[in-house]
This record gives sequence, C-alpha cells and structure tokens, in this order.
Amino acid sequence: MARRGDREEIGRVMYDSERLGATSCMISVDKGTIARGTYVKIDGEGGRFYVGQVIDGPYYFDSEVGNRDPVYVARLNAVVTGEVQRAVLDRPKPKAPVCLLEKDLVQRFLGATGNMSIGRLTGQESVQIGLDSDTLTRHVGIFGTTGSGKSNTIQVMMEEASKAGFSVLVFDVEGEYVAMDQPSDKLQGLLERFGLKPTGISDLMVYVPQNSRSRRNDAVKFGISFEDVDLRVFSEVAGLNSMEHIYFLDLIEKVRAVAPAFREVTLKAVLERLSARLRAQADNPTLPGIVAEAHTTLYSKLTVIEGLKIVDTSVKPINVMNVLTPKKISVVDFSDASDPVKNIVIADLLDKVFKQKMENPDTPKLFIALEEAHTFISIERREHMMATLVLLLELARRGRKRGICLNIISQQPARLPPELLELCNTRIMHRMSSATNIEVLKQSTGNVPESFWDTLPSLGRGEAIVASPRYTMAVITQIRPAASRRLTTE
Ligand SMILES: Nc1ncnc2c1ncn2[C@@H]1O[C@H](COP(=O)(O)OP(=O)(O)O)[C@@H](O)[C@H]1O
Ligand SMILES: [Mg+2]
Repeated sequence: MARRGDREEIGRVMYDSERLGATSCMISVDKGTIARGTYVKIDGEGGRFYVGQVIDGPYYFDSEVGNRDPVYVARLNAVVTGEVQRAVLDRPKPKAPVCLLEKDLVQRFLGATGNMSIGRLTGQESVQIGLDSDTLTRHVGIFGTTGSGKSNTIQVMMEEASKAGFSVLVFDVEGEYVAMDQPSDKLQGLLERFGLKPTGISDLMVYVPQNSRSRRNDAVKFGISFEDVDLRVFSEVAGLNSMEHIYFLDLIEKVRAVAPAFREVTLKAVLERLSARLRAQADNPTLPGIVAEAHTTLYSKLTVIEGLKIVDTSVKPINVMNVLTPKKISVVDFSDASDPVKNIVIADLLDKVFKQKMENPDTPKLFIALEEAHTFISIERREHMMATLVLLLELARRGRKRGICLNIISQQPARLPPELLELCNTRIMHRMSSATNIEVLKQSTGNVPESFWDTLPSLGRGEAIVASPRYTMAVITQIRPAASRRLTTE
C-alpha cells in the first residue's frame, strides 16, 4: 500500500442503502484499504467538516450495486467549524469527499496530547499518543496477561517520566530494570520507526535488600530500621492479628520505658522482652490461656521477621531524599527476595516517601511503579491489610497534589481491591483473555467503545487500549519499545 499524504482524498460518502443510524455513514474508499479505528475527515457544507472514525468494514459488495471499492462504516464523532468542535446534528451528503484526518487534528480531537509520548495510534501511525504530568498524578493502571507488554510499557513510562523531570521509584519484582542505564539491545528497528535510538538512563540507582542478591554488582544494599517503621502497617505485613498487635505495642512501650533516651528500640530488644515474658509464664502460668497463646504466636511471627535479616541490619535504610532527585530512576531489585521481605520493604518505602513528600513540597514529582500489585495487596488479603490499603489510598489521594503518581501493574486486575482499581484513572490495557479480568475493567472504565472490549483478547504484543480522563475516548495504541535496556528473565 502506497504511503498516503494526510490531506489526500481517499474516497467518498455513499448513498444510504439502509438506515445506519443518525451518527454513522458509509464511505467507499478507492485508494487502498484503511484499518478500523482510523480517523477521517468528511467535508460538510459551509467550510465545516465531520470527524469520523472507521468502525466497520471493509465490505466488498457485488459489482451490480455499482461499486467495486471497499466499503466502510464511519461513526461521526464531531462537526468542526474553524476551531470549534460541536455535536453531530446532521449527516454528510452522498459523494462528499473523505480524507484521512491530519495527525494534529486527530490528536487534538482525541485529547491524546501531552509531553510524554508513549506510542502511536494503531492504524494511523503518524498520530502520537501522549499523556501529561497532570494526568499521571491521577494515577495509572497497567493490565494484561503475561507477555502482553506490561513491563515494556512501564519502562517506557519511566523513561518519559524521567525525561519530564520526575523522580522515579520502581519496585522491580523480577530484576528487569537494573540495567536501564544501558541502551536497549532489542527491537531496535521498531524503535527507529518511532524516531528513537537506543539510549540508557543517565541517573540510575539500584538497591537490593540486605541478604538478597542482584544481577547488578554495584547495587546498594539496604535494611529497615525498626524504630522508623509504621507499626500498624508493619504488624499487618508481619501477619499479626489484633490481639498480637496489642501485645506487640505493649512490649514496645515496655522496652522504650527502660531504654535510655538515646538508644533506639530494636526488634531484637522487643523479642528478648517477649522471650522473658514467655519464660516467666512457663515457670508460673498466671496468664489466661488465650493471652499466653497470643504471646506464643506473636513470638513465632516476630522471629520469622527477624530471620529475614532485613530489619535493624548493619546496612542503612534507603535515604528517600536521594530517591527524590529530578530525573533519577531508583530501582529496588526484589528478584532474589522472598515475598515477606518484598512486602515489608514496599510498605515501609511507600510510607517513607509519602511522609517525605508531604513534609517537603519542593521535592520533584514522584513516579512510583508497583509491579505485580496483586501479590502485594489483593481482595483475598484485603481484610487483613487495611492499614496498608489505607496507606496506599492516602498516598494516592493526598499525594496527588504533591505530584505523586502511582502506577499499579497487574495481570489480574480482578484480584485488586476495588478501591485500588478505582484510583487508576488512566488505564493501559494490554491483551487479556480472562473474562473475569475483562469484566472488572469494563465495569470501571469509562469511554471505551463497546467494540474495543472485543479486541482485548486479540491485541498484539505492545498493543493496548488506553483510556484516560483527558481523552475524548479510549484509543488503541501501539506502545513504543523502551529505549533503555531491559534484562530478560526466565
Ligand atoms: N511495545 C512493544 N512493541 C514490540 N514488542 C513488544 C512491546 N512490548 C513488549 N514486546 C515484546 O513482548 C515481550 C513481552 O513483553 P513484556 O513487557 O515482558 O510483557 P509482560 O510484562 O506483560 O509479561 C517482550 O520481550 C517484547 O519482545
Ligand atoms: Mg512483566
């Protein structure tokens, strides 16, 4: 198919052969074929034009009808006079010329403008699909089955956010982003089609939990300081029930009371205190059974946490002020960490960056990427993770005004607590075939044409339906490949 200029006439409006509906018309295209989803400009009277989108076709009717050319159905989306865009109250006349809508007009019509370009409109490659910083702080969800392109998309978003001056923090579950300071070694031809060259990020910092390994030798080890943790969130992540939590707080108070003011309260000291209590109990069982039981289970749960060797280690916690540096990408590599370590660290870091952002309004905007969010907080665990959920909701709601942008990535949106899903105003939905997951998104995402949902199971790699509050309607987008390197995982 020859490449066609934006303004070239590609066909004409047809006479009606049936009643299509007030906001559709049939067009016959005499130059090649066009993809569904393509935007067209249909001439109207008095210098007006219609913005239409091809939603059906091509059909090839018998030549006796008098037309051998492919026929399409276009939905009329708006009427434009000069700069003014209005509702469609009539239909174009038969034989009215049809052109492809110029890329700037498509972008303007869609509202898909913004300083961060994430890809191109599928079917009309000259049209860039963008997002802006203000949209990002209304939070983002990236969904799709394994291998559909989620990680590439979040990497592209990280590159764009860094370029736009955000500080970036990514919880890297598989250790994929630890080499983003190097140029990409994959999909280079495709990258070139987006007008880009493989380029590494200039300011990358990789952290790895103490006692875990990273494929990056210069990864900075870190621990967690018990003195600084949010105790409610800590209790939850440690799996304490409400009774254990009460005794836990009581023990901390007792330890604090006897510790000199300059000494920090450590998890070890709390455990020792608890151990002494249990010994006394063994010698002289005065506590009611249920209380003694709670002490015993508390002891074993806290021992598990201590055994993770992440709390009160000799290595320092991450200095979140370093994370809050413009353009810097900070990667926390969890590829070798256990789930409890991952969960404790994520909860603690979210708490710390949130507090730091609230106390220091002058810090740069912060872009946070949470991969496999459903393993951190899910519907099944919702009841037991209220404090963590509240932390996330607060961070999203109050943090928004301070430029915090939360990106939730998950292959199972149906397993995310609904309030978390609701937070994601922009949604990038990759290929997905599970009806349950599609249904959850369908129920909670506005402005997606019905026919788009049917395409979700058949989207190609890197293709996605992008729905965003600034967009007139959702668009099917070919996301660009990342320009920086991503390590492959087995
Ligand atoms: N935007 C894209 N364009 C072209 N190929 C892509 C794109 N996104 C992903 N891919 C291809 O698909 C593979 C899987 O993508 P990935 O981002 O790892 O998926 P997920 O994180 O959803 O499992 C990648 O290794 C890459 O080869
Ligand atoms: Mg992935």
